[in-house]
Amino acid sequence: MLGHSLVPALRAAGMDVVAHGNSKGMDVAGDLTDAAVAADLVAASEPDVVVNLAALTNVDRCEEVPNEAYRINVKLVENLVSALEKRPGSHLVQISTDQVYEGNGPFGEDDVHVANTYAFSKYAGELAALRMPATVLRTNFFGHSQLEGRPSFSDWLEKTLRAGTEFTGFTDVLFSPLGLDSLVAMITRTIEARRPGIFNLGSHGGMSKADFALVLAGHLGLDAGAMKKGSVADMSLMAYRPRDMRMNVTRFEQAFSVTLPDLKDEIAAL
Ligand SMILES: NC(=O)c1ccc[n+]([C@@H]2O[C@H](COP(=O)([O-])OP(=O)(O)OC[C@H]3O[C@@H](n4cnc5c(N)ncnc54)[C@H](OP(=O)(O)O)[C@@H]3O)[C@@H](O)[C@H]2O)c1
Repeated sequence: MLGHSLVPALRAAGMDVVAHGNSKGMDVAGDLTDAAVAADLVAASEPDVVVNLAALTNVDRCEEVPNEAYRINVKLVENLVSALEKRPGSHLVQISTDQVYEGNGPFGEDDVHVANTYAFSKYAGELAALRMPATVLRTNFFGHSQLEGRPSFSDWLEKTLRAGTEFTGFTDVLFSPLGLDSLVAMITRTIEARRPGIFNLGSHGGMSKADFALVLAGHLGLDAGAMKKGSVADMSLMAYRPRDMRMNVTRFEQAFSVTLPDLKDEIAAL
């Protein structure tokens, strides 16, 4: 999903991009959990920078098949790093997640508390990435997905609000995502800067998923009456969901000389 927004933006910024996909054909395809495939891809495309978006992102699936979560979210990163180590001067941008946090946010980068297998595997993937000069971006995002059949959280929410279908808005899950356009602009900046380290990349403010739905509905002029406020604890989900994933984004702002937006403004922009 993120790749379908990022790749056109990087090309528009004048970068020479080789877009890799696994089963859905891009410029090149291949299973990067196979070390030889990763090595061949890097050797053939000779990248200065790799942005790794490949992941097993289905949180419940990670809980169900932790070995797959390990292979895709950790081993795949190790394969890329091993291949890139043969290209001195190359840089890795590893996209990670706000799910590595839990407790009372907003969290600084050192406040890691993994509470499910997805978070564990993404955190291990970060450590694998940091074997080489890498920028780890812990993020979350919403916006218009450019990938058919893969709606974002806000795509799903808008569709549900328009349909008037009953749904539960979680009052006890707090997050601070960025809109896709802002995220893409910030990833572009990190590619140019090649500054190593771990950075939270989200918005200021943060709110519950229920409040996000109310604010979005307000901007769309839609009635949110079909939303029932509730707790994620009442859902029977395979994986535990962190209750608070809000991020303190000061480190990113200082390192990259930017001011990140407020979540309310990001929803308005959408
Ligand atoms: N979506 C969110 O809301 C969200 C929030 C926070 C962080 N993130 C992070 O942002 C990044 C991008 O997320 P996304 O939602 O855009 O991901 P996505 O739509 O689920 O795409 C993941 C990609 O990884 C590829 N992939 C999976 N296994 C692979 C393998 N063995 N070899 C090569 N490629 C493989 C998939 O290819 P196929 O589909 O062809 O298998 C797919 O193109 C991820 O690192 C994710 O953890 C996402």
